[in-house]
Amino acid sequence: MRVLVTGGCGFIGSNFIRLLLQEHAEDEVLNLDKLTYAGNPENLKDVEDDPRYNFMKGDICDARDVEEAFSWGPEAVVNFAAETHVDRSITSPEDFIRTDVLGTYRILEEARKEGVRLLHISTDEVYGSIESGSFSEDSPLMPNSPYSASKAAADLLVRAYVRTYGLEALIVRSSNNYGPYQYPEKVIPLFVTNLLEGRKVPLYGEGKNVRDWLYVEDNCRAIDLVLRSGSPGQIYNVGGGEERTNLELTRAILEIMGAGEESVERVPDRPGHDLRYSVDTRKVRGLGWSPRYDFETGLRKTVAWYREHTEWWKPIKSGEFRRYYVEKYGDI
Ligand code: NAD
Ligand code: TYD
Repeated sequence: MRVLVTGGCGFIGSNFIRLLLQEHAEDEVLNLDKLTYAGNPENLKDVEDDPRYNFMKGDICDARDVEEAFSWGPEAVVNFAAETHVDRSITSPEDFIRTDVLGTYRILEEARKEGVRLLHISTDEVYGSIESGSFSEDSPLMPNSPYSASKAAADLLVRAYVRTYGLEALIVRSSNNYGPYQYPEKVIPLFVTNLLEGRKVPLYGEGKNVRDWLYVEDNCRAIDLVLRSGSPGQIYNVGGGEERTNLELTRAILEIMGAGEESVERVPDRPGHDLRYSVDTRKVRGLGWSPRYDFETGLRKTVAWYREHTEWWKPIKSGEFRRYYVEKYGDI
């Protein structure tokens, strides 16, 4: 299959492209990426010379860029490209509305014109927070951050294109991913690399918020399965079934890394901080998917990867990220 992947230089997109090339010898990929602060060609250095891998620098909000990428002749498009960090969406919402909403619209338009199957990558955050139980794919969308609201808007556009134009589109809504190549603004790589640098870890509020952790390779396998076996027009939740409070997560990281509670710095809470995300994953399990990594194993693998790949994250942490970090966390 010829697959157009957007946002393939980011965390999940790069892991997905690697998996696709490994698992499907006949597949070819075109990666359309704007190379924002979160897009890093280093994430795909090992596949750069594979003749089945192609790269185009471009913006999903630019109709000409999107048209040019579709002229490559994809049979399917997987739309990962997005602004993704909740905290940045609180300080700069416009970037999120532009890329996550307008960008998705551009992809939808071109997919409709060319009759290409679309798998749109969404998030469990579109459902909002849930105190107990889990959201199903039919639960109402109640997003609470500019990030999740932009992602929810995109999901509704996808739905409209399925209903109105009969576009063959599917949506995957996954829980929090973790693993190799995740930009260190997100909690797990931030905490792990801070500890490797001898810094403290900034824990928001009471640390009582709950996230369901999903190892990135497991998510990529789910995405690949939905792309090939999912029913058009359907939505699939994907989650690791590994819910932890942030305090539990922090303690697990400290233990693996041999650090103590004195390494934790309590910092003010995020505004509008969702208490808990949880999704019912029976539908994707019905396609034959289940996670291969439990949280303990995935977290150990992740810590080991960051330990062994200082050459990947050190330039990030001393570059664009440093200014962002100091402004946000001060001297921690
Ligand atoms: P990321 O921030 O690591 O990467 C985003 C990528 O998109 C980067 O390579 C960036 O350069 C590219 N990009 C951004 N704006 C673009 C534009 N206008 N045109 C083209 N490319 C652009 O993100 P990620 O964590 O890999 O997330 C990928 C997708 O998965 C997103 O849609 C996100 O909402 C969704 N998701 C992420 C998680 C998670 O835990 N990381 C969980 C659920 C869903
Ligand atoms: P994050 O990785 O930003 O993902 P999301 O907000 O999309 O779930 O944050 C995961 C959890 O960790 C979230 O409850 C906020 C918390 N957190 C901290 O406690 N400290 C931090 O420095 C960051 C970045 C997040």
